[in-house]
Amino acid sequence: MADVPAIDSLKVDTIGAVRLLTLNRPDKLNAMDTALIDALIAALRSADADAAVGAIVLAGAGRAFSAGADIAEFKDLPPEQRHRVEHRSALTASLQLLLPGLSRPVIAATQGHVLGGGCALALACDMVVAAESSRFGYPEVKRGILASSVTPNLARQVGTKAAFELLVTGRSIDPARALELGLINRIVPDGQQVEAALELAAGLAALPARALQATKRLFYRTLDADFARAMQLAHEAHAEMRAEQRQPPSP
Ligand code: COA
Repeated sequence: MADVPAIDSLKVDTIGAVRLLTLNRPDKLNAMDTALIDALIAALRSADADAAVGAIVLAGAGRAFSAGADIAEFKDLPPEQRHRVEHRSALTASLQLLLPGLSRPVIAATQGHVLGGGCALALACDMVVAAESSRFGYPEVKRGILASSVTPNLARQVGTKAAFELLVTGRSIDPARALELGLINRIVPDGQQVEAALELAAGLAALPARALQATKRLFYRTLDADFARAMQLAHEAHAEMRAEQRQPPSP
């Protein structure tokens, strides 16, 4: 893990074959500043490159998963410092793209506020285990700002009407509604979300790695493809897997 910057705001633990990454700014409700996003991206890449890691869990310390982008940092980003503004925006977008592109499955364990960029982060994970206290929402519009890089994935994951309503009202929803919308996978009692996500992740990590990783890769490759292209990709992935299975085991 030498390439992961050691910063207090991101805790990195390894539990068996699962890498647990914990946003660790509880006094700021795990608001994400540039340093934290940088460290998170590096830690995700490092986990994905580690042969001993089969799955990743993303959690937040304290009473919130994450209250989103660090608003205080926005104040340091005046429009005239365009390169810094663009760097910040590109970082958020790259995190959204990175998660589905990782070969290992990533499970978010949420509680309390799951807002704005925090909600987008949870949604970009492959699965979400939510504690009962979780409240999901995009309050940006209420602050007079745009929920920009969080929009495409939300619209892709829930029906357009529900996504639009979440974005334009800025209202939060509870886990029961989030489950109904397909934004999360499970609801667990408060305090059990990390343990439940770790258990789920350990189960995934115990599966044959190649099949698991090929399944994730194909899932996201077909998600945005038209049906004919998706079937072609599925056919190619199947042929590739069968060819690999015919290879004699390496000594
Ligand atoms: N960015 C930076 N700091 C944040 C933050 C954010 N997105 N969200 C919360 N914090 C900080 C607060 O400033 C406060 O810091 P302080 O104790 O040094 O003053 C601390 O976290 C606790 O937040 P507080 O507002 O006191 O908690 P609360 O329980 O009363 O309210 C929220 C919780 C989530 C309703 C409220 O913090 C909030 O509205 N946060 C902004 C959410 C948002 O708009 N996210 C999208 C950002 S683009």
